[in-house]
Amino acid sequence: MASAPSRSTPWWRDAVCYQIYVRSFADADGDGVGDLRGITAHLDYLERLNVDALWLTPFYTSPQADHGYDVADYRDVDPLFGTLADFDEMLAGAHARDLRVIVDLVPNHTSSAHPWFVAALADGPDSTARKRYLFRDGRGPDGAEPPNNWQSVFGGPAWTRVPDPSTGSGHRGQWYLHLFDPEQPDLNWDDPDVGDEFESVLRFWLDRGVDGFRVDVAHGLFKETGMPDVRGGAGTGPTLDDTMSQWDRPYWDQPGVHDVYRRWRQVLDSYPGDRMMIGEAWVGSPESMAQYVRADEMNQVFNFHWLSTPFSAPALRDVIAETYAAVGPVGATPTWVLSNHDVVRTVTHYGGGDLGLARAKASMLAMLALPGSAYVYQGEELGLPQVDVAPADRQDPTWLRGGGVGRDGCRVPLPWSGQAPPFGFSPDSPQPVRTWLPQPGWFRDYTVEHESHDPFSTLSFMRYAIARRRGLVDRLSHELEMLDRGDDVVAFRRAGVDGAPGLVCVVNCGTVDVPVDDLGTAVVLSSALAEGTGQLLPDSAAWFLS
Ligand code: BGC
Repeated sequence: MASAPSRSTPWWRDAVCYQIYVRSFADADGDGVGDLRGITAHLDYLERLNVDALWLTPFYTSPQADHGYDVADYRDVDPLFGTLADFDEMLAGAHARDLRVIVDLVPNHTSSAHPWFVAALADGPDSTARKRYLFRDGRGPDGAEPPNNWQSVFGGPAWTRVPDPSTGSGHRGQWYLHLFDPEQPDLNWDDPDVGDEFESVLRFWLDRGVDGFRVDVAHGLFKETGMPDVRGGAGTGPTLDDTMSQWDRPYWDQPGVHDVYRRWRQVLDSYPGDRMMIGEAWVGSPESMAQYVRADEMNQVFNFHWLSTPFSAPALRDVIAETYAAVGPVGATPTWVLSNHDVVRTVTHYGGGDLGLARAKASMLAMLALPGSAYVYQGEELGLPQVDVAPADRQDPTWLRGGGVGRDGCRVPLPWSGQAPPFGFSPDSPQPVRTWLPQPGWFRDYTVEHESHDPFSTLSFMRYAIARRRGLVDRLSHELEMLDRGDDVVAFRRAGVDGAPGLVCVVNCGTVDVPVDDLGTAVVLSSALAEGTGQLLPDSAAWFLS
């Protein structure tokens, strides 16, 4: 299968990147919410996991309407998460352990508490401040209807009406666009102030030493000229990823985004050390995805195909083929993602229980064997299933706006140690700290402490798998040869380079054992190989040197 970029090897090309959802990773100050010092305190854990890089979700000043994806100050740390000095300390600690750090950049919208939006409300129609956002007059008598039929990704209309500052509070004024929560007004990327501001924000964090950016809603930013109604009705999907992937919308994947990423790429390339950006771009076709990773644009885009795919060999083979179809022609590196803070955890997605865990581990082995970089979401290394958060405890704006059950179930604070909440997530105190989302009692079987003592735990498996990958990856080709081992099997081989052996990965998605004794000299690793029989069990995967 084609691919294999021949550009020199930047650090991110084959990296395993661990996603830290900062609110839920570790709490150092005892308020029940994760913070930057909590990360610093657990850098040894991350080093021991053998990952190469960390991606931190937003920790900037924010009212937290969307848990940090509503940024009020792009150049500061929210007191909830610490200070800029805490950030610098965390970054230095990560770099001292050879861990790169990617931070989240949120360019599609600001918080409604951002000084620009506050000024836009105060200054009124036609002001400079309003032009930085997407304010429009309403339709119908007195402009009482929203300017078009667009729906928010989180549910409900994508427009909110504001008072008119010139006529007093009794009159209703213009409407502003928010593709997400009303507290996340969309920026107007046709206004030059916006582009200049984000270049300056990029430089601020690059100067502090970050290694890259994860670009939120990278397929957003620009809206179709005239902002026409969504044809055939606005509709909303039942889940965030459905709605985000309704790519034929007049607000996604507009051509203007590419100039923005070209400009950012020049900024990144002007710094030493392979600074990078990876885009969250939900687009409709491999060709559209490829546009984002042309040689002068983003370094990577997330490849979301896998996380909504069932555990089926034809489906997984399609994911691999489509991924290569997307990145191959532009010489970009594939990325692989099984999970993140917006989707149901993999174990649950695959059916839950032992079956779900077996499939999650098998998929992880396949992902780690494939060329390119792998993104691992915190808790995946523990085999955490989705938590069924009680409706009264849910905090996701998706749920609060009636856009579905929400994403809280994959965001519950991590269990580190002990037998009862807060499971070492927060410091010990006479009165146990209440975490921002409650942890279930069954987390006691998933703590880092518990799994560290068990050589057969998911954590031990992950530590070993990522370490073995690290030992192999430099000696493996990026070329992928798909092997035919039957309809229910995904199998592929990467050739070794410089005389090193190649790597074969086999995933058994079927219901019967699959013979693998002819495949290679040594089994590197297996999620369930029947000892001595040469058979790979259903719902498992194995690596062979070959
Ligand atoms: C993030 C979500 C967030 C949304 C709006 C998504 O891409 O991953 O968590 O709610 O953007 O910023």
